[in-house]
Amino acid sequence: MNNAVVNVAIDGPAGAGKSTVSRAAAKAVGYIYVDTGALYRAVGVNALRKGIDTKDKPAVAASLADISVDLVFENGEQKVLLNGENVSAEIRTPPASMAASDVSAVPEVRAFLFDLQRDIAKRNNCIMDGRDIGTVVLPDAKVKIFLTASPEERATRRYKELIEKGTDVKYEDVLSELIERDYNDSHREIAPLKPAEDGVILDTTGLSLEESVNEIIRIIKENI
Ligand code: DC
Repeated sequence: MNNAVVNVAIDGPAGAGKSTVSRAAAKAVGYIYVDTGALYRAVGVNALRKGIDTKDKPAVAASLADISVDLVFENGEQKVLLNGENVSAEIRTPPASMAASDVSAVPEVRAFLFDLQRDIAKRNNCIMDGRDIGTVVLPDAKVKIFLTASPEERATRRYKELIEKGTDVKYEDVLSELIERDYNDSHREIAPLKPAEDGVILDTTGLSLEESVNEIIRIIKENI
């Protein structure tokens, strides 16, 4: 590993605020922010578009044969490309979230996306967020943080975000979907969501966004 490059791994359950907090912290320390969930979402969107049952693992694995998924960075902002098309907005819908969780349990999908994530981390100081970054993708990351919060607090944050975007959702549905995704993500056989043994757990229940970001920056500075 290139010692000059600093990698920060931030893992945690859905709705813990990983992307918002990681983006702000990355800006503050001058690193790029890499949202790996977008990659699984792009694979999920591809399956949905093709009418593939996202719980059908062999069918999902076969769907990888003729697709390309890429991340590009413009002015520090990440865009995810599916076969060259920018799908950054389409990957954010609730069906895309569930599809992403389903396809992420398919070993071929994880293998397909692995090198892309590793290559970006090798070449850039970055904060990379996901579910298995500190445990599998970047086991040598300088800093590993497991960001979490209570399911109710995470559902409230996600609900507000979706309503602000004009998506018509019910809080109860957001909460039950989030609990189902947590279960899927932490019980799958391959690379399940869990804190890295050599990482720091940060519970942001009751913390404001600013407090969470400051805490992350403090942990990064303390460890590099
Ligand atoms: O972080 P997110 O909500 O955008 O992630 C969408 C899904 O992708 C999530 O339910 C689990 C999966 N995922 C994963 O398995 N590994 C990652 N590194 C990132 C996301």
